[in-house]
Amino acid sequence: MRILIIGNGGREHAITWKIYNEGYKDLFCIPGNAGISDIAECADIKVNEFDKVKDFCLEKRIDFVVVGPDNPLADGIVDYLESFGIKTFGPTKDAAMIESSKAFAKDLMKKYGIETARYEVFTNYEDAYKFVNQISKYPIVIKADGLALGKGVIIANTNQEAVEALDLIMKERVFGNAGNKVVIEDYLIGEEVSVFVVSDGKDIVPLTTARDHKKAFDGDKGPNTGGMGAFSPSKLVNKAVFEDILENIMLRAVYGMRKEGRPFKGVLYGGLILTEEGPKVLEFNARFGDPEAQVILPLMKSELIEIMVKAREGNLKGIEPKFDEGYSLCVVLVSRGYPDKYDIGFEINGFENLDKGTIVFHANTKKENGKIKTAGGRVLNVVRKEKTLKEAKEKVYEEVRKINFENIFYRTDIGDKEID
Ligand code: GLY
Repeated sequence: MRILIIGNGGREHAITWKIYNEGYKDLFCIPGNAGISDIAECADIKVNEFDKVKDFCLEKRIDFVVVGPDNPLADGIVDYLESFGIKTFGPTKDAAMIESSKAFAKDLMKKYGIETARYEVFTNYEDAYKFVNQISKYPIVIKADGLALGKGVIIANTNQEAVEALDLIMKERVFGNAGNKVVIEDYLIGEEVSVFVVSDGKDIVPLTTARDHKKAFDGDKGPNTGGMGAFSPSKLVNKAVFEDILENIMLRAVYGMRKEGRPFKGVLYGGLILTEEGPKVLEFNARFGDPEAQVILPLMKSELIEIMVKAREGNLKGIEPKFDEGYSLCVVLVSRGYPDKYDIGFEINGFENLDKGTIVFHANTKKENGKIKTAGGRVLNVVRKEKTLKEAKEKVYEEVRKINFENIFYRTDIGDKEID
């Protein structure tokens, strides 16, 4: 089978690596990165150039496409490629709305009895402004409706901060059309976990849980990022909690999407919070998380590609994936200054000193004159799989210290949330 993976992050490197290790060597990636190019033929095409992606698929006789990131899914890449007879894994544009419109997702949850925070949706600034001026209990959460590179969720601790958030999203339009609507919701208290399943539109194959570290600095301080590290699984989600989440959240969402005429085929990612009243949904995403994929896929013993092919065919019933015992942990190495301003183009050294058991998934890297250089904010993901979370953390940081590039930065506390 000739397989094309779309995307260029650590998530896409992890997906490509997993499929490669399943024995599939005819791999292609658009656009890919320096690490992916070691195991797949990469093409310098932008993920939003759908016609070029289609031409590439036809020219290279691609049998199956896997889409990694949210933007092309929201823009309908699956519908587009399928319309040319190219088999593609991922939700259609209509189904990807579970991620690309927060208001749609909240209405879906309300309609199908999925636990989530109380909320209101506003399409007009004045109404939203009046509403926040009546609120007496803070913090509250203000979300831009559309995709905003993980930056569209603002926690407002005071009325002034709430008004500033509204100004930013609806007046200054810093997230463009993603700010056409806002969702204003209650702030929920609890620990955040991510749950992943693959759905064929009807049934689900449960994968596992993971925990992301979204803030830039130790102690969950600083600005939100795409993710500075992750580990899997979460000890907070025992078997009973997992089953409850699968039945009352993930399956209900899949059922609701089908009832709404938007059958969801793809990876469904529940961003949840474990409150005193039980698990509630913060958001749904229509794809693997990044860096969650980097910790989930190394633990997965079953064939990912088989699950993806069957999901697309609507044929997942009865599949029970197997995962390794133990834990995996990922630390993301970034360019200092990320997620704001940073410099790129620095040579990365030290790969040759790493232990055999260490996996490095590249994100923004490129090859230049035989050297590997930094090419963006998130640069590398260093991953280890060990018996305990504590061992995984110790080993990853030992390995991280062997890698260097100018302006390297990383959090030093990944995993501490659940290390006893
Ligand atoms: N790690 C967060 C995300 O992928 O959206």
